[in-house]
Amino acid sequence: MHPANAPQVSTTSPGFGGRRHFQRLSAPALLIAPSILSADFARLGEECKAALAAGGDLLHVDVMDGHFVPNLSMGPAICASVHKALPDAMLDVHLMVTDPAAYIEPFAKAGASHVTFHIEVVKDPRPLIASIHALGMSAGLAINPDTPAEAIVPFVGEIELALVMSVYPGFSGQSFISRVLPKTRALRDAGPKSMRVQMDGGVAPETAPACREHGCDVIVAASAIFGRGDYAAAIRLLR
Ligand code: DX5
Ligand code: ZN
Repeated sequence: MHPANAPQVSTTSPGFGGRRHFQRLSAPALLIAPSILSADFARLGEECKAALAAGGDLLHVDVMDGHFVPNLSMGPAICASVHKALPDAMLDVHLMVTDPAAYIEPFAKAGASHVTFHIEVVKDPRPLIASIHALGMSAGLAINPDTPAEAIVPFVGEIELALVMSVYPGFSGQSFISRVLPKTRALRDAGPKSMRVQMDGGVAPETAPACREHGCDVIVAASAIFGRGDYAAAIRLLR
């Protein structure tokens, strides 16, 4: 956690237990969320510490099941190891899985602060949002590039974060899909001011300004941070 950004996440919001999560804030500033998908997994603890020391506000944990997306990544055991190494870090879990219900409790036990799941895999997200909140975490809903913003608009009053995928999920290092930007604006306008809007995929110094102009206040970046030598310089370029 970069000290300058510490107030942007909370450890004390009532109703969610004591862990850090996306708080219902009235005037959100930009948060940078390094995605550990592009970290060197053999040195994961060091990589996480370096990304936070370099100015990252939280860590984005990409979970893939080889079914919802054509790749496998990490599960609760890795989340638990990161939590053990960095107990104060906010861990933002992005579930790219067909059965998110099966993984909410395991990730809560592994120290996750926040869980986002995809609207494409559920008929009614409300029971899952409720179980995420009941376990002391904040909740997010994600949409793929071809899913309209309207799919999650009915739920914006119940979530702390809306995630707009700006690549087809599954891999880091893809190119930003700019046609999703109007959805970001639509969600920003539809949701309460306190709801954060997260952009995920292909965000780089060249594409970050457009994300911000369209109301995004949480930028996820894997290759634009871990793919560069100087993480602090990379994060400064994204802000
Ligand atoms: C993609 C993941 C992203 C990914 C972003 O499926 O959800 O979080 O790590 O990687 P970059 O920033 O390299 O596009
Ligand atoms: Zn992600």
